[in-house]
Amino acid sequence: LKVGVLISGRGSNLAALIEAARAADYPAEIACVVSNRADAPGLEIAAAAGIPTAIVSHRDHPDRETFDRAVSAELERHGSGLVVLAGFMRIFSPWFPARWANRLINIHPSLLPAFKGMHVQRQALDAGVRLSGCTAHLVIPDLDSGPIIAQAAVPVLAGDTEETLSARILRQEHRLYPLVVRWFAEGRVNIAGNKVTVEGVAC
Ligand code: GRF
Repeated sequence: LKVGVLISGRGSNLAALIEAARAADYPAEIACVVSNRADAPGLEIAAAAGIPTAIVSHRDHPDRETFDRAVSAELERHGSGLVVLAGFMRIFSPWFPARWANRLINIHPSLLPAFKGMHVQRQALDAGVRLSGCTAHLVIPDLDSGPIIAQAAVPVLAGDTEETLSARILRQEHRLYPLVVRWFAEGRVNIAGNKVTVEGVAC
């Protein structure tokens, strides 16, 4: 399976996917990385791994859908069959999730549906929850609301700051996201309405 990854920044999830895809038995290949920001550090991670990169700036496009179509054209040019959002910070027009319906995934650093939007680790600390984590989900037009594919939980510890909690969650993201991409590549992800099941995975 050819995977297109969309980033806006750091690219640590991208790095985890690249690392996973190095294994001979990994069934997916990172075919291209598209960033909406020219200064995204993740672009260098991709280039160092020999992966084609493209910058599609929202500033060069008059509206969201035109931008979305330009991003999509890059993904298509490299034969992407799955689009993976990895710290991509632009909101799509409805066109993009429709174009890539059931083949567009995101990872979010909370246990959805709790804590949508920005600064979600801060939201978790402020709410006093004892568990948080990350959620891999299908992307639909509503932000952070698509069908859940998989989650990983971490404890919230006394004395946690946004930084310590984020780091604990991020370690799980780096484990979970390559696994989810593997499931797609193996054709084990079944989508029925808003319920996702994965063959061979009990929960
Ligand atoms: C991660 O926390 C991810 O959950 C969120 O954006 C962040 C991206 O980090 N969607 P990175 O660019 O992959 O390091």
